[in-house]
Amino acid sequence: MPDDKKLSPVEIFKTESNYLRGDIGQELVDQNDFFGKSSIQLLKNHGVYQQDDRDARAAGRVEGHTGKSPKAFSFMVRTKIPGGKLTSDQLLAEIDLCDEIANATLRITSRQGLQLHGIVKGDLWKAIHRINEIQMSTLAACGDVERNIMCCPAPLKNDPIRQQLQDLTDHLAKHLCPQTTAYHELWVRDPETGEDTLMGGGSNGHVIEPIYGETYLPRKFKTAVGLPEDNCVDLYANDLGLMAIHDGKTIRGYNVVVGGGFGVTPSADKTWPAVAKRLCFIKPEEAVDVATAIIKVQRDFGNRADRKVARLKYTIHNMGLANFKAKVEEYYGKPLAECDPTDVTGFDDHIGWFEQGDGNWWYGLNVENGRIKDEDGINLKTAIREICTKFKPGICLTSHQSILFCDVAPQNKAAIEQILRDHGVKLSEEISAVRRWSMACVAWPTCGLAITESERALPSIIDEMEVELAKLGLTNEVFTVRMTGCPNGCSRPYNSDIGIVGKAMKSTRFSWGGDCWETA
Ligand code: HEM
Ligand code: SF4
Repeated sequence: MPDDKKLSPVEIFKTESNYLRGDIGQELVDQNDFFGKSSIQLLKNHGVYQQDDRDARAAGRVEGHTGKSPKAFSFMVRTKIPGGKLTSDQLLAEIDLCDEIANATLRITSRQGLQLHGIVKGDLWKAIHRINEIQMSTLAACGDVERNIMCCPAPLKNDPIRQQLQDLTDHLAKHLCPQTTAYHELWVRDPETGEDTLMGGGSNGHVIEPIYGETYLPRKFKTAVGLPEDNCVDLYANDLGLMAIHDGKTIRGYNVVVGGGFGVTPSADKTWPAVAKRLCFIKPEEAVDVATAIIKVQRDFGNRADRKVARLKYTIHNMGLANFKAKVEEYYGKPLAECDPTDVTGFDDHIGWFEQGDGNWWYGLNVENGRIKDEDGINLKTAIREICTKFKPGICLTSHQSILFCDVAPQNKAAIEQILRDHGVKLSEEISAVRRWSMACVAWPTCGLAITESERALPSIIDEMEVELAKLGLTNEVFTVRMTGCPNGCSRPYNSDIGIVGKAMKSTRFSWGGDCWETA
C-alpha cells in the first residue's frame, strides 16, 4: 500500500471483521434498535444502511430536547440487480415487503437497483432473507466492493449486441461478487436450525477473497456496461465503464473508461466530481480479466487512510493516467491498446411503447424519482401490482429510476394502459419532457448525509418549470434536470444539463451543462 499514514477506522473494522462478519450476528439479536460503529460500516457490504428519521430528529430539536438528539432508527435495504433485470414475481415480492415491513414505498434507484426504507432492526433479517428466497441478493449492493453493475436495459430481442452486454454484465457481477460466506451465515441460514435451504454453500470455512483480500477495496467501486449511441447508463460517471464498439452484429471490443465518480466534500478542496478518463481498447474476451486487474490496482494503490480521497479517481490522479495504465498492464500481464476513436453520441430513456423484435412490446413507464407508492389518488404501487399479477411482464429498471414492462403481447397493450389510468397514473406520453428527464436522489427524511430536500422538493420545482417553459415555447425541449440533497451526487447532477445540488450554509450549487458554480 502506497500510503503509510494511519489506516482509517473503517479499514480497521474490515480487517478485524473476519470477512465482513464482525459483531453483526450478536448485535442483530441484542435489545438495541441500532448497531454499533463497526457493524454500521460492515452492514453496508451486506446492502444495509442504518438511518434515522431526519424529520423526527429535526422535530426533536425544535421541541428542545436536551442531551442526545432523539433518533428513530430504521434501515435501508438495497437489492443489487445487474442490468436492472428481474421478474414480475420478484418485483411483487419486493412490493409485499415494502407493505409488510418497510415504509409502504419501494424505490427504483438511479443505478437500476431497488431500495426499501424504514425497516426496523427486528425485521431486518426477515427482509434480507426474503429477498434471497426470491433469488435476489443485497450482498455488495453498498460497501467497499464492486456494486451493482449497470447495463442498457432495452429488451430488444433481435439485438445481439444488447444480449452480449447483459451476458457480460451477469458474468462480471458473478465474478466480482464477494465470496465471503458471512452473508449466508447471517441472512440465509436459519438461525435456529442452522439449515441453509437456499442457494450457495454457507459453510463455516475460512474463506479467502480471491479478488478483494480481507480488507476489500478502499472505497466503493461502480461499473457500467453500455453503448456509445445509447449511453443510458452514464458510462463516464462510473469507476469503470465498458463502452461496446460494434457493427450492429458483433462487438469488436470495448473502450475502457476509468475513474468517474461524483462524490464531493465541499469543505475539502482535495475532493471533486470527475468524469471518467479514456484508458484503453480491449477485445471482448479480455473484459473480465482487465476489469479484475483494474480493481486489483485500486485495491493495492487506493488510499486507505482518508476515505474522502479513496475512490479510483484520486488513485488515477495521484499516479497519473500513464502510470495507472502501466500498472494495470502489469497486473493483467499484457500491454493494452489505445482507445478506439468512437465516443458517446447519444442516450435514450426507453420510455413509451416499443416493439421488442419478437412480436411483443415493452412499455417504459416514467416513475417520478423512482418512488413506487400510492399517494394522493395516484396509486402507482397498486397499478404495478395489478399489471405484474395479471400479465407477468419481464421487468427492467432504468438508470433514470423508471420501469420497463417487457414481453407484452400486442393484445394486452390497451389493458395495461387502462390499469394505469384507472389508478390515476399518468401515461409516459402525458408527462412533460422536463419531468420525464428529471431525477432526484432520496435525501430527506432517510439519508443521513442530506443537507437539503431533494426527492420531496423536485416535483414542485418541476411544476414551476413546466409553466415557465410553456411561456417560452420550450415544452417539448429535451434536457436533464437532476437534484441532490448534498454534494455527493447520487442522482448524477454534475453531468446533467441542469444540476441542483444541496449545500450547507444556506447555499446551493447549480450546474449547467456540466459546469458548476455556487450561490451563497
Ligand atoms: C461520497 C459519496 C457518496 C456517499 C457518501 C453516498 C451515500 C449515499 C447514501 C447514504 C444513500 C442512501 C440514501 C437513502 O436511500 O436514504 C445513497 C443513495 C444512493 N446513491 Fe449515493 N453516495 C455517494 C455518491 C454517489 C454517487 C456519485 C452515485 C452515482 C453516480 C450514487 C448513487 C446512489 C444511488 C443510486 C442511491 C440510491 C438512491 C437513488 O437512486 O437516489 N451515490 N448514497
Ligand atoms: S446525494 Fe447526498 S443527500 Fe442525496 S442520497 Fe446521496 S448522500 Fe444522500
